[in-house]
Amino acid sequence: MSVSIIVGAQWGDEGKGKIVDMLSEEADIVARYQGGANAGHTIVFDGKKYVLHLIPSGILHPETTCVIGNGVVIDPVALMEEIHMLESMGISVEGRLHISHKAHLIMPYHKHLDAAREKQAGSIGTTGRGIGPAYYDKALRTGIRIVDLLDRDVLREKIRHNLEEKNQLLQALYGAEPIDVDAMIDEYVEFDSRIDPYITDTTLLLNSALKEGKRVLAEGAQGALLDLDHGTYPFVTSSNPTSGGACTGLGIPPTAISSVMGVVKAYSTRVGNGPFPTELNDETGELLRTEGHEFGATTGRKRRCGWLDIPALRYSIMINGISEIALTKLDVLGVLDDIRLCTGYVVDGKVVKSFPADVATLSRVECTYQSYPGWKSSLDGIRSFADLPPAAQHYVEEIERLLETPVRWVSTSPAREDTFLR
Ligand code: GDP
Ligand code: IMO
Ligand code: MG
Repeated sequence: MSVSIIVGAQWGDEGKGKIVDMLSEEADIVARYQGGANAGHTIVFDGKKYVLHLIPSGILHPETTCVIGNGVVIDPVALMEEIHMLESMGISVEGRLHISHKAHLIMPYHKHLDAAREKQAGSIGTTGRGIGPAYYDKALRTGIRIVDLLDRDVLREKIRHNLEEKNQLLQALYGAEPIDVDAMIDEYVEFDSRIDPYITDTTLLLNSALKEGKRVLAEGAQGALLDLDHGTYPFVTSSNPTSGGACTGLGIPPTAISSVMGVVKAYSTRVGNGPFPTELNDETGELLRTEGHEFGATTGRKRRCGWLDIPALRYSIMINGISEIALTKLDVLGVLDDIRLCTGYVVDGKVVKSFPADVATLSRVECTYQSYPGWKSSLDGIRSFADLPPAAQHYVEEIERLLETPVRWVSTSPAREDTFLR
């Protein structure tokens, strides 16, 4: 049995889409295991750019089967838009995309509640895609699942039951307009007929494929530091992007996992609120944002930028079991005179070894930095490690040394072909 998991090792937007797309060539199935349309995975090839939110990045390889697992929360509106976008760009989805009948649906009230909560004090800075409220209903056991679309009476009753409570919440707590039950039922019944061809028992599909010796790539969304359990809580997403999430989010056993690759951006970014020890609130941060086009693929928000954070990455490697790294966006650092790596955390004058669990401590972290000379040149057209400027090679080797993990792939542009194996 062979499942390789690809996880984001930081706060998301590491370039997972690009790496999954590249590795899909060798995979029979690519499966998304958590999150929803909060993700934005960008893939560039043949001069065209594709931004995927729900559908696995493997879809761009015509031979690859794609699965949206039970752990994903599906917004049918976003899903239909994405299917149309792909088909309008000449990528056929039918017969290749399989959606778990156990996945939960994002309902319009989830998006309303997400937006309403974000207007309150202490907001997370969510993507507004209804993710938190949908996982909340899942845990509360009132969620509506894809399988519920198959029986209209069940669907009608579940929507009616949910709206009774949600309308009260929306009106009383947030002063928002109530939602009409009948209109929503009609809308979701209509989705049912469109989604129907894709719905299947993906747990069985994946486990049967594994028995036949097929190669499965599990695609994480978000990043380890946004993990609900292990991230910078409460400034996290509402699912488990870490590798363990692949088992629960797909229904595959831990014994099927053969490797975990961590995608690491050569510096750090974060979208939304929450602690960010290496953040650069100066012109260097601005330069990284401009050079790296660091604007959210889903919301267009400015991404906060900072130096690479070794203590955070060591933690990420530990909780994910990352055995190899794909390092992206090395090219972006080519504009800097000198480059820094945060090699340690100091809190209240003491060196801390473990990654702090609470926001108050994380916000007080003082970073210890090591400086490296920049290479001040473009990496355009460079397709081998030996051709990288010596200072860039040294930076990569230092990352490997400090993380005690091999950097197997290096990416030097958004394009599919600009990634090389070491
Ligand atoms: P994901 O959410 O992890 O899939 O990452 P995003 O797609 O949200 O953000 C990564 C961005 O960086 C995208 O715009 C990619 O096209 C781009 N990108 C990926 N790898 C590289 C790289 O090596 N160099 C540069 N300059 N851009 C890259
Ligand atoms: P990809 O897969 C970066 C962030 C949001 C917010 C927090 C919670 O493209 O890497 P949510 O809408 O999930 O309730 O928001 O998580 N966030 C992401 N940041 N990349 C993502 O996905 C993200 N998905 C959610 O900005 O801080
Ligand atoms: Mg992204």
